[in-house]
Amino acid sequence: MTQWPDRMLFGGDYNPEQWPSSVWDEDVQLMQRAGVTTATVGVFSWGRLEPEPGHYDFGWLDDVLDRLHAGGVQVLLATATASPPAWLGRLDPGSQPVTADGVRLGFGSRQSYSPSSATYRTHALRLVTELALRYGRHPAVVAWHVNNEYGCHVPSSYDEESAQAFRTWLTARYGTVAELNRAWGTAFWSQTYQGFDQVDPPRAAPTFLNPTQQLDWARFSSDALLALHRAEVQVLRELTPELPVTTNFMGFFKHADYWAWAPHVDVVSDDAYPDPADPDAYVRLAASRDLMRSLRGGQPWLLMEQAPSAVNWRPLNAPKPAGLHRVHSLQAVARGADGVLHFQWRQSAAGAEKFHSALVPHAGPDTRVYAEACALGGELAQLSGQVAGTRVPARVAVLFDWESWWAVEQEATPTTVDYVATVLDWYAPFLRRGASVDLVHPSSDLSGYGLVVAPATHVLSQEDLTRLDAYVRDGGHLVVTYLSGILDRDLHVWLGGYLGPLRASLGLRITELAAAATPLTLAGGLPGAASTWQDVVEVAGPDVEVVATFADGHAAGGPAVTRHPYGAGVAWYVATAPEAAVLDELAGRWLAEAGVEALLTAPVAGVEAVRRGDRLFVLNHTGASVQVPLVGGAVQLAPYEVLVREA
Ligand code: GAL
Repeated sequence: MTQWPDRMLFGGDYNPEQWPSSVWDEDVQLMQRAGVTTATVGVFSWGRLEPEPGHYDFGWLDDVLDRLHAGGVQVLLATATASPPAWLGRLDPGSQPVTADGVRLGFGSRQSYSPSSATYRTHALRLVTELALRYGRHPAVVAWHVNNEYGCHVPSSYDEESAQAFRTWLTARYGTVAELNRAWGTAFWSQTYQGFDQVDPPRAAPTFLNPTQQLDWARFSSDALLALHRAEVQVLRELTPELPVTTNFMGFFKHADYWAWAPHVDVVSDDAYPDPADPDAYVRLAASRDLMRSLRGGQPWLLMEQAPSAVNWRPLNAPKPAGLHRVHSLQAVARGADGVLHFQWRQSAAGAEKFHSALVPHAGPDTRVYAEACALGGELAQLSGQVAGTRVPARVAVLFDWESWWAVEQEATPTTVDYVATVLDWYAPFLRRGASVDLVHPSSDLSGYGLVVAPATHVLSQEDLTRLDAYVRDGGHLVVTYLSGILDRDLHVWLGGYLGPLRASLGLRITELAAAATPLTLAGGLPGAASTWQDVVEVAGPDVEVVATFADGHAAGGPAVTRHPYGAGVAWYVATAPEAAVLDELAGRWLAEAGVEALLTAPVAGVEAVRRGDRLFVLNHTGASVQVPLVGGAVQLAPYEVLVREA
């Protein structure tokens, strides 16, 4: 397989089946004018390609691919399995998904299939085989786009076929029902099972469901979707081994553990729909791009979908002001993307997405949005030679773990936590300083990082904890926050003060977990406000520096922030959620102590500075002009301005 992408891609989802063929020639001309390199074709074409089971209509797609090829536009060919046709549900009503409340979801929308349906799988794989045989060597086709946004609408299904698949999955995981009973702690509430056949999905129940059952259901549901993806990939690899495969992820999407998925694509791709009306959206956006880059160890990735302007699925669908779309696009490039693609090419005239923006709007090409698209296409072509294929160096790692996400957001926990929002609170101070961050799984090799932050990493195994301990002993700088290391991977509590072996590295134990009902005040060397949480912390000895204490609340007088020189490194504990100003101060200290470079001399909101390859990107996400305190000399940026220069 040759290296792909081999240059910066630009384009989007192209759905020609929504239009008469008379429009297709104009499409190709307008693509050429805009500098489109790549069109994603066929994402929702199953019903058109296979109007009846086993009867295919490929003529129109032959025509479309030939026209695109003649126009110099490459094709990312979708396997078209994202939305089965009406006949599939008629053939096997059991293939349609069922909610936890037992409601079977009907046809007429999209993604109407249960991930564990054998009928869906059989028909999907037959279609993939036909497509691979027919188009695998078409000169326009450069890669496969498998399915679309797995789990977006139906992350799991509670039908009986899925229940049976869950039992099989549990049998493979635990071997014996006694082991399942141990892991799930079923001695509690008379939940002991006598056989795997007694176990069900966590369907609607009288009150709190077993936590480990819920965690295993989340693991199983992610695995069930991944199994579908892998089955398609297997067909494609057999028939077209030279073509790369990808499937579009959804950033911080709760229901698919992308660490497990990433090895099964050749290139990571992502869909991102920030709210143009939210001035803080750039933080989540930056972090999701860093996650995408991190999933395959820094390999360039693709922004597969974004809206050129407004979406149509928020209560209020704000358009992007002129310039913002360019900032979003170049942010992706700065953070490692080798392609900027969109949903969709031409704005629909009918159907559920007719009010979603597109590169060619309803009003036609003589519009601001199409003009911006042309400008972006030209700019990306220029940037291609400068940055395509290059890497984004990062020396800060923030742990990101789907199992912690699933566990910490369960019911019956000490407090309600939004895991991603919490991770972002700890990511943002580094963003505000221009210090690049990788997101990493707790089991990763951390030795290349100067600083590692574990925010609310609720679930950690003995091996994870031991690795983090060794990281500090070997000279690393580690920051652990409240709600981390509370449970093992069966969701059993780490007894004796939580944190397992990290108690030694941090030099403390936690004697009480406590949600904070009122705002908190930090005293000592780090005054400021905090909220949400306060652990009751007992330090182990005089070598633990208490950097801040709680002035009020349940843990008044106790440590809020501690620092422990340990082995050749330093381990910090933060027992609460400090306000942003305090986090900025702490981050500055952590970076300096760990000797990690930041590109800005002071924290700034709404602005980012990132180095990729030998280029420096400075981006202003705000509608105001800003002074950016770059190391080596401040620069002034106009509203939504992006500066790209040699680093
Ligand atoms: C994505 C999806 C696209 C389109 C888009 C609209 O979730 O993959 O097909 O629906 O959202 O924002």
